[in-house]
Amino acid sequence: MKIHNSNSSLKEALLPFIKNRKSIGFVPTMGALHIGHISLVEQASIENDCVVVSIFVNPTQFDNPNDLQKYPRAIENDIALLKRFSKNIFIFSPNALDLYNQNINSKSYHFSGIENEMEGKHRIGHFDGVGTVLNLFFRIVKPNKAYLGEKDFQQLQIVKKLVEIENLPVKIIGCPIIRESSGLAMSSRNKRLNTDQLNEAILIYKTLLKVKENFKLLSILKLNQLAEKEFKNHPCLTLEYFEIADTETLKTAIYKSKKKKYRAFIASFIDDVRLIDNIALN
Ligand code: PAJ
Repeated sequence: MKIHNSNSSLKEALLPFIKNRKSIGFVPTMGALHIGHISLVEQASIENDCVVVSIFVNPTQFDNPNDLQKYPRAIENDIALLKRFSKNIFIFSPNALDLYNQNINSKSYHFSGIENEMEGKHRIGHFDGVGTVLNLFFRIVKPNKAYLGEKDFQQLQIVKKLVEIENLPVKIIGCPIIRESSGLAMSSRNKRLNTDQLNEAILIYKTLLKVKENFKLLSILKLNQLAEKEFKNHPCLTLEYFEIADTETLKTAIYKSKKKKYRAFIASFIDDVRLIDNIALN
């Protein structure tokens, strides 16, 4: 397993795979890896001849400098976690200036309006940053398939749009959310929580489950009220948003249509740590 810190070194290493028409799987990450990330690497490694895992805390997708500064970084541990893969794994941990060709700025994208919902409303410029960095990565790595988690469901839909807009020959594979035994979705940000906060955070998944259980019985309005009430009873968590949205457009649902698929989404703060999660409802 080799670690590449420059675009040119990674491209050179991948050249034999490209020449011999071997398949390249790509797992983009911001590091501080956990089993959720590893599940993506596992799937990529089953389905491809080699796998590139990027580890890069992308500055352009953070709207909050404090969040960027406090984002967990654990490269030695990340490398140790990836070492157990016997197959061809390439770690790509680039320098920001090199990756961005000396211009660390976002492109401005229109992802059919998906960028204006939920995370887009609350993290201004976030999806422009995600789109920009993944466009750069896709052009360097040239993957056949890229693996993204449903944990960031809106991001997954954005990336599907990105490859259409940029006309990139990569298939985007959505992978299921991996959870702790408590139900809490695994996240690099969980590393910033103490034991009490980790216990409190379980409320996020419990609320999603409750909404799912009641989805057929209650109206959207009542489901929204149910979720909000759960959070009011737990002042340690501040609910940023709860939304039931159409899975395709991610537009907020006002009423249920039998023809549509819905998911419930939560963003919540514990102290200054922001956690997100979601669940399929039907
Ligand atoms: P990061 O938060 O490190 O996540 C990397 C990938 O792992 C994403 O596709 C995310 O959805 C997936 N993931 C995270 N937690 C997961 C879990 N519990 N179960 C399954 N998959 C999980 O998302 C990003 O980084 C960045 O925005 C990135 C795409 C790398 C662009 O900078």
